Amino acid sequence: MAKRSDEHLKVLIRHSALKGRIREMARQMERELKGERVHLIGVLKGACIFLSDLVRSFKSTDVSIDFMAVASYGKGKESSGQVRLYKDLDTSIEGLNVILVEDILDTGLTLNYLCRVLKQRKPKTLRIAALLDKPERRIQEVNADYIGFKIPNEFVVGYGLDYAERYRNLKDVCILTLPPQ
Ligand code: IMP
Ligand code: MG
Repeated sequence: MAKRSDEHLKVLIRHSALKGRIREMARQMERELKGERVHLIGVLKGACIFLSDLVRSFKSTDVSIDFMAVASYGKGKESSGQVRLYKDLDTSIEGLNVILVEDILDTGLTLNYLCRVLKQRKPKTLRIAALLDKPERRIQEVNADYIGFKIPNEFVVGYGLDYAERYRNLKDVCILTLPPQ
């Protein structure tokens, strides 16, 4: 991992805790799906690692996956406030039990936008799973069905989350502190 010397990382959630919680989330999803097929939609790029652990935790349910790519952040830490769709789904979701899988719920703008888009496509059910939740930052209300961890209002990286495309490969979720500007 190429850490810049002036950037500081502090572990917030260890890999073992992430794995354990993700297994619990999959068990809860399976209970609620009652044997019906589920279609997981990962929000690229941040959710790719969460989704890959989540999908392998399903034991008795038929699971398919697809991805959407959006961006609401520029290169730095602050949201641009606008959500843009870069990659759409490969297949229709009409009549499917869909779970939208996101790395972190922050202002709520991204998930609000994606829910609006996906509801128009008539899934049978639409649920939301976010690995991390920063409730203090919310601008738009989002009713997430599954939350991995509530975290304080800190900028975090690792386990799929990036700062300017770096640090996605860290196994733990870490708080990133930058030097004063
Ligand atoms: P929202 O639209 O503000 O809820 O933000 C959602 C997106 O912002 C996430 O999918 C992340 O890509 C990004 N994001 C929000 N907070 C963080 C953070 O602490 N670290 C890295 N990315 C973040
Ligand atoms: Mg993201």
